[in-house]
Amino acid sequence: MKATAIAPANIALIKYWGKKDEELRLPLNSSISMNLSNCLTTTTVEFSPAYKKDTFFLSDNSKSDKEKNRVFKHLDRIRKLTKISLKAKVVTKNNFPSSSGIASSASGFAALTVAACAAAGLQLPELFYNFSARALKLSKTITEKELTILARIGSGSACRSIPDGFVEWSTGDTSENSYAYSLYPETYWDLRDIILIVSNTEKKIGSSKGMESVWSSPLMQERLKTEDVRLKKMKNALQGKDFSLLGETMEADCLSMHAVMQTQNPPLFYWTKETLEIIKVVYKKRESGLPVFFTIDAGPNVHLFCEGKLEKEVVNKFKSLKGVKSLIINKLAVGARLSEKELF
Ligand code: DP6
Repeated sequence: MKATAIAPANIALIKYWGKKDEELRLPLNSSISMNLSNCLTTTTVEFSPAYKKDTFFLSDNSKSDKEKNRVFKHLDRIRKLTKISLKAKVVTKNNFPSSSGIASSASGFAALTVAACAAAGLQLPELFYNFSARALKLSKTITEKELTILARIGSGSACRSIPDGFVEWSTGDTSENSYAYSLYPETYWDLRDIILIVSNTEKKIGSSKGMESVWSSPLMQERLKTEDVRLKKMKNALQGKDFSLLGETMEADCLSMHAVMQTQNPPLFYWTKETLEIIKVVYKKRESGLPVFFTIDAGPNVHLFCEGKLEKEVVNKFKSLKGVKSLIINKLAVGARLSEKELF
C-alpha cells in the first residue's frame, strides 16, 4: 500500500481567481494552463497499520500545521472513497522553491492525489503507469476525470496538473462537472515558460486566503463579464498556434487578475519593484521586435513566454537584470504520473 507520483506545476494562461463554493473549490470561471517540465513535485504515500497517526514531511522545509491539516484532510477523502481506515506517511519533495508564486500547491495536491489513490488500491488509467513493473489489474478503478475532481477539492489549480500538456478546467456548477482535461498533448507546441525568480521567500497571504475576498474588488464583476472572450481567444490561439494572440491574451488576463487583487480589501500586492522592472523590459524588448510575453501568479516571480527557437536569446536578455536571482526554463510537459522512485 505504497505508491509514488510525480506531478508538474502548471502556469495558468487564463487564471483562476475566486470560488463560487469554498468547500468544494468550484471556481468562478474556467481556466487554461500549461504543465511545466522543470517544476516537479514527487510524493510517496504509504498506508500502513504500523502508523498510529498521519505524518507529512516536506523535504526542503517544514510546513505549517494548517498546511499539514490540509494534506491530512485530503487523505481522509481518499480513505472515504476507498473505505480504508489506515493512517499514512507522506513524504514530498519539490525541485523548485515552495510558496513563491510557482504553484507548489498545484503540483503538490496533484502528486498527493495520484500517489494516495494508487497506494489505497485504486487502479489508475494505463497512462499513469509509465514503467513496466506495475502491470496491476485491480478491481476498483478511478478515471483521470475523477482524479482531477479529487485533486481540485485539495487545491483548485491542482486539477490542471493531472492531464497532459495544455489543460482546461471548466468551471462547472457541481463537483462532478468541475474537472480538468487535456486540450493538447505535451508534444503540441515548442514553447518556453522561463521563470525569473526574484524572491524565494514564502508569501504572506496565500491564494486560498487571498481569493476569499475577491468580491471586495469593484473590478471583479468586470473581470468575470469579460472572461469568456479571453477564454475563446486563448482557445483560438492554441488551436491556430498563434503565439502573439496567446501572449496578448495571457498578459491581459494576468493584468486583469492582478487589478482585482490590488483593488481587494485588504489589497493584495504581490509585485515587487523587480517584478515591475521586468514587465517594463518585456514591453521594451517587444517594441524592438522580440516576441516575448509575461504572466505572473500570486507572487513576485515573472514567467516569460517565448517560442522554443528564441529560448537562448530571451535567457541572455533577461538573466542579468537586476534582482533576478535565478531562472527555471520549462517546456510543455505531461501531467501526473506514477513513479518507481520512492522517497522512503
Ligand atoms: C493565482 O489553486 O492555489 O495561481 O484552490 O484555494 O488552493 P486554492 O487556490 P490555488 O490558486 C491558484 C491561483 C493562481 C491562478 C491560477 O493558477 O489559475
